[in-house]
Amino acid sequence: MNNDAPIGVFDSGIGGLTVAREIMRQIPNERIVYFGDTIRLPYGSKSKDNIIMCSRQIISFLQSQGVKAVVIACNTASALALEEMKQEFDMPIIGVVQPGAKMAAETTINGKIGLIATDSTIKSGVYERYIKGYRPDVTVYGKACPLLVPLVEEGMIHDTVTYEMVNRYLADLKDEKVDTLIMGCTHYPLLRSTFRQVMGEEVNLVNPAYETALELKNLLEQENLANIKEVDEPSIMYRFYVSDAAEKFKKLAQTILEFDVGMIKKINVDEL
Ligand code: DGL
Repeated sequence: MNNDAPIGVFDSGIGGLTVAREIMRQIPNERIVYFGDTIRLPYGSKSKDNIIMCSRQIISFLQSQGVKAVVIACNTASALALEEMKQEFDMPIIGVVQPGAKMAAETTINGKIGLIATDSTIKSGVYERYIKGYRPDVTVYGKACPLLVPLVEEGMIHDTVTYEMVNRYLADLKDEKVDTLIMGCTHYPLLRSTFRQVMGEEVNLVNPAYETALELKNLLEQENLANIKEVDEPSIMYRFYVSDAAEKFKKLAQTILEFDVGMIKKINVDEL
């Protein structure tokens, strides 16, 4: 495997760009191929079998693009499909749940952790399992926030409707006095300022993307896969694919990544 081969990163939509952005910051000389499965979004209400099927198809596609490792930049797919994918594919694959769980367990002081995520991630109980593995004494308060992903995908990031929804979703967690809140869906860091406003300055907001990028960096070094070549233009370093609505994706991706993302290629999922 070539050390300058790209990293494959995928999500149901633009959420995984918050992970890609963190990889770009922490390991800027790694190339990235990103896939947003926009036609099948949201993943958060789908069954395990479907998420496994989508993940399998996308990882095979990324493999055909010559990636040397894959980051499942989606909490839902990390919670429901990571173990299966690691068994099926012969390359390093990491998810975002374990790094986020570790960070939260290390951060909490009062032992009360709030977890906001999709319905499927909450129901899987995977975050709680990992957190308890690090710190058996903590309590995890989970809250599914199904409306936040569509609001983010619609670009309604600084909108009163979004604020109102966040306010409602977080009310119970505020009452429980959690001191740490995991943004357990890769779309949510885009709403960070709203969470901050609603929860107040004292609560620690955990973005699993940060730890995930760090874990990827360590993994690439351990496996002798790190790229030692110079950083190039974004148009050469990063490629983006979606399964639908390429123009809409492009517009949001440019605001999140703050550079010209170039052409977004549409892939037909029936051919994956
Ligand atoms: N961004 C994804 C996650 O982290 C999935 C959101 C969705 O498609 O429901 O869970």
